[in-house]
Amino acid sequence: MISENLLIEFREFLAQHMGLEFPENRLPELERSIDRAAPDLGFKDVDSCVKRLMSEQLTSHRIEVLASYLTIGETYFFRDEKSFKVLEERVFLDLLRKARSSHQFLRIWSAACSTGEEPYSIAILLRRILPDFDDWNVTIVATDINTRSLEKASQGVYTEWSFRGAPPWLKQQYFEKTRKGHFRIVPEIKRVVKFAYHNLAQDPYPSLLNNTNGMNVILCRNTLMYFGAEQRQKAIRKFIDCLLDGGWLIVSPAETSLVVDHRLETVSAHGTMLHRKIGGPARKVKISETAITLSQPLVPRQAVPEPPSHETTEYLQRLSGTPSSMKFDLPSEVESRGFSYEEALELYREGRYSEVTKKFPVKISRVPLHGKESAREASLLAQAYANQGMLIEALEWCAKATTADKLNPKYHYLFATILQEQGRNEEAVKSLQKAIYLDQDFVLAHFALGNLLLSRKNSARSQKYFDNVLNLLLKCENEETLPESDGMTAGRLKEIVRAMTHRL
Ligand SMILES: C[S@@+](CC[C@H](N)C(=O)[O-])C[C@H]1O[C@@H](n2cnc3c(N)ncnc32)[C@H](O)[C@@H]1O
Repeated sequence: MISENLLIEFREFLAQHMGLEFPENRLPELERSIDRAAPDLGFKDVDSCVKRLMSEQLTSHRIEVLASYLTIGETYFFRDEKSFKVLEERVFLDLLRKARSSHQFLRIWSAACSTGEEPYSIAILLRRILPDFDDWNVTIVATDINTRSLEKASQGVYTEWSFRGAPPWLKQQYFEKTRKGHFRIVPEIKRVVKFAYHNLAQDPYPSLLNNTNGMNVILCRNTLMYFGAEQRQKAIRKFIDCLLDGGWLIVSPAETSLVVDHRLETVSAHGTMLHRKIGGPARKVKISETAITLSQPLVPRQAVPEPPSHETTEYLQRLSGTPSSMKFDLPSEVESRGFSYEEALELYREGRYSEVTKKFPVKISRVPLHGKESAREASLLAQAYANQGMLIEALEWCAKATTADKLNPKYHYLFATILQEQGRNEEAVKSLQKAIYLDQDFVLAHFALGNLLLSRKNSARSQKYFDNVLNLLLKCENEETLPESDGMTAGRLKEIVRAMTHRL
């Protein structure tokens, strides 16, 4: 038995760290769940379990165990048929029409994806409606707090239960039967979806770091209803920051009334309510918590030798593989509108990326750029473009930043992040190596390189970089926010890396 006061204190703790809310009528359920979770968490009795959880650092392992007892992972393919019909006939039709005439990019985030049925359904839907699917650059990021669910999702093997209510063609066309009589998703669908751990209550978003920026569509269905009002509002605000202008936030029909924000308009289609981010100037909103860390100077370590002798721009041009006339010729005659860096930064922090790119370049597009100040302006533009999914422009401005401030590792890191978003992993590895060459203590660059190598199945080399991360983090306080991390703390990164290396 646990005292009522302690249970209520624990309820607040869960709301803060996992977003989950347990109202009065669900308190007995919470007590039963934690009672069952205690042995798995290594405690004999529930009382000491709850006290220790609240007084010690909440590790990934503990979150993982708690998530498996406290969250509901219920999901299945093409869940809520009507929503998929609306997605096909309203959302994707609209987005694809616009994208086809320009860049053929589409970025989707299935937040709280559980065991993966939802993001795979989206991938299948897109393959069906896009005859030239392979010519498109489709990114589907799928995240959850429950690592066991994510592991199952990455395997992509399902039982009949996941197909309840699904159309008959689904299994026949997109799954292979295993010897055990289960169903394995076909490789061409599997490769489109990228699964990753992400806690909506704690981890940063939008962020280039975890690829949650510049989204056309975010699905967060059957999850916000379990969040407390404060965490829910916070999550909705951050989702909107992640969306491109005109992008869509899709929740379940039971949750639409919970989604209220002045930056969203409600669109009704086939009797379903959808939410779309209003494009153009928005009213001033509170600065998001995920402040970017541009203001923190990253000074190259002493005794760093000169980078390779070739001009950085040329080097970057070679990396990006595109002729200079295409990538770096920007207008030289420009008029200054007096739009300051600080104003642009403020807009950026508010998630008003299109305003940054519309107003800011006029002032700074003189070529060539020189010095740290121009570099930081160019880098802000690069990030604003990246957050709108305009990766070519983002790459151009990032290249300008590296030219203007050659020895600054953070611009090479940013460059690598954008290349990675384009699927140009080999070039991204080179840029990350360069960032580390300029600053051996650049934690996020080591982490990104470890991740990249891991995705290329080079676990021995990735382990080396993860070890570097852990060694560097020994020097940091857990609460310390890491540079270039969009608000990630040292303690959080330690947890993530430990969980990853554990699995390795
Ligand atoms: C009912 S499932 C929804 C699955 C899918 N979106 C659907 O509608 O079919 C809810 C999911 O939310 C996840 N979840 C709960 N709290 C979360 C948090 N703070 N961050 C990320 N995911 C969370 C759970 O692990 C679970 O997989």
